[in-house]
Amino acid sequence: MTSKCVISLDLPEDVVAPLRDQFDLLTWSGKEAMPEVTLQDWLADAEGLLCSLSTPITASVIADARQLKVISTMSVGVDHIDLAAATAACIPVGHTPGVLVDSTADLAVGLMIAANRRIAEADRWMRTGQWSQGWQSDLLLGSDLSRATVGIVGLGPIGEATIRRLRGFGATLVGWNRTPKALKGVEMVDLEDLFCRCDIVSLHTALTPETFQIASRQRLASMRSGASLINTGRGDLVDEEALIEELSSGRLRAGLDVFKTEPLPADHPLLSLDNAVLLPHVGSATFSTRMAMVTRALENLRAGMSGEPLSFCANPEVYGLSV
Ligand code: GLV
Repeated sequence: MTSKCVISLDLPEDVVAPLRDQFDLLTWSGKEAMPEVTLQDWLADAEGLLCSLSTPITASVIADARQLKVISTMSVGVDHIDLAAATAACIPVGHTPGVLVDSTADLAVGLMIAANRRIAEADRWMRTGQWSQGWQSDLLLGSDLSRATVGIVGLGPIGEATIRRLRGFGATLVGWNRTPKALKGVEMVDLEDLFCRCDIVSLHTALTPETFQIASRQRLASMRSGASLINTGRGDLVDEEALIEELSSGRLRAGLDVFKTEPLPADHPLLSLDNAVLLPHVGSATFSTRMAMVTRALENLRAGMSGEPLSFCANPEVYGLSV
């Protein structure tokens, strides 16, 4: 009997086609996230799961999936998966580190420039027919990256790649990492210092119970007036309610690619704030990066289905290795 695999995200047929010869595939083609009950139903006798950030893989999904041998997510982050439950059930979880570093770092710098040079705001302003005079000395003034002190929270591969780019802009660099780290030209400081000293704070740490709302109400309140918060990590790294208050008062600016609730509800308060640049979680959204991610995710899936160790495993403890 052919082994069954569930694909809980909509992927192009040419990407999925090669798997059809090997596995009995159940593919979700809805544009909205797959409902948990459907996922549970489909996983009842499946051995493999290919998923993405939009599908939470909860402890109860894992408990009910008795035949499951591998979970492979097309993302570097695994906070949508109950990793402890997967590990307890001896199910390896594959992810896609490395391949989206440059695309995400590019986007973080893009958001810094967009927020500080008011690019999206200026575009909206023009399209609403407000450019009635020519060059004006005080039109849409912003601030320079070359004069900014930028604080990078989390010096993993994406944080480091962001720093490499910022060196080229001449920014002053300050960093914080969970474990000690030294990087040329980056002053390591504690989090309180970083938030209150920087003109731009950019979040690059994984979401874990320790980093939940690392940009807390208190830390946001300590930021300089006119400073900006950039988030290409996860929405829950920020106290979003507190950030909205800071943005509404006009004290801070923001460039956000990720949110507490995704997709952002149509009546969300952030949507009415001109000093926030908002993107729909597109940090890795380039043709080549998405192709590299899906290739890596399929490799992990195939390895798990044939009982081989995954090359990119988020819970290597299942193989008796430490994380
Ligand atoms: C994107 O957010 C990812 O984790 O790959």
